[in-house]
Amino acid sequence: MERIEQAYAKLNLFLDVTGKRADGYHEIKSVMHSVTLADTVTVRATAADFSCITLKMENSSIPADERNLAYLAAEAFLEKTGITANVAIVVEKQIPAAAGLGGGSADAAAVLRALNAIFDHPLSTEALCALGATLGSDVPFCVLGGTMLCEGRGEVCTPYSYPEGYFVIAVPEDEKMKTPEAYALLDEAFENFEEPQTALHEMLFSFFEEDPYYSMYNVFEGIVLPRSHAATILRTRLLDAKAKNAMMSGSGTAVFGVFDTEDEAKAAAAKIKGAIVCASAPASLTL
Ligand code: C5P
Repeated sequence: MERIEQAYAKLNLFLDVTGKRADGYHEIKSVMHSVTLADTVTVRATAADFSCITLKMENSSIPADERNLAYLAAEAFLEKTGITANVAIVVEKQIPAAAGLGGGSADAAAVLRALNAIFDHPLSTEALCALGATLGSDVPFCVLGGTMLCEGRGEVCTPYSYPEGYFVIAVPEDEKMKTPEAYALLDEAFENFEEPQTALHEMLFSFFEEDPYYSMYNVFEGIVLPRSHAATILRTRLLDAKAKNAMMSGSGTAVFGVFDTEDEAKAAAAKIKGAIVCASAPASLTL
């Protein structure tokens, strides 16, 4: 059987890091939002005596080997369910990699959704999310999609209400930031989060809740933007092009602007080389 899934990119509309855990991960509070910028993930699977997984990455230089999260997702699904199958995955890449847009997590989540559908839902939505969490902190959100408040290390997702909108995403070509490196820089700046700043975190989130456009927040901006001239310029250009607000997503270095209408978003994107116009995406699964 074949199943085609859209693997939507995510934007962090709010991203705060509230503490450091004993396992080295960080406690976060983030509002994640799926957008229509997406990879297309095609999964063909048939039951067999022995499992065999193949992966093809189209339109991308990302290695299509057993380190790839899409491959690992198929492996984890088969192991968890005890199913043995021939699985062939093709990912048509559209989401820029290593940019804070959750592309790898989205592909993994799409593989989980596809295999669960092909094999007639052996796993509940909760179980699929729990399996996703073993692959990466953002994978449970990507399994669900829509808009979620994500807590814990990102894997504890609760539906969150956010008005649909249009977005322009701009990605610096050369200046990338690896997520572990961004967290390490944050640890340095916040002295390993040893002093709890509960009141400050609550205040930032209450501002966002009151005004989700003008009070967007990403704690990584203060760390990453001073190290990425290109991202800083793109953010300013989005604001100059009349975005209601503009911010970096995740640990960067992609930046995005928020717009009310598609026409406004298109007009802004026309002024910024390589900018991508997208809209709020529907949820893939609901809790
Ligand atoms: O969970 P994931 O594999 O995507 O995380 C990649 C890296 O990002 C982790 O190894 C860790 O260094 C960092 N991270 C973190 N706290 C989180 C999520 C990620 O420190 N909540």
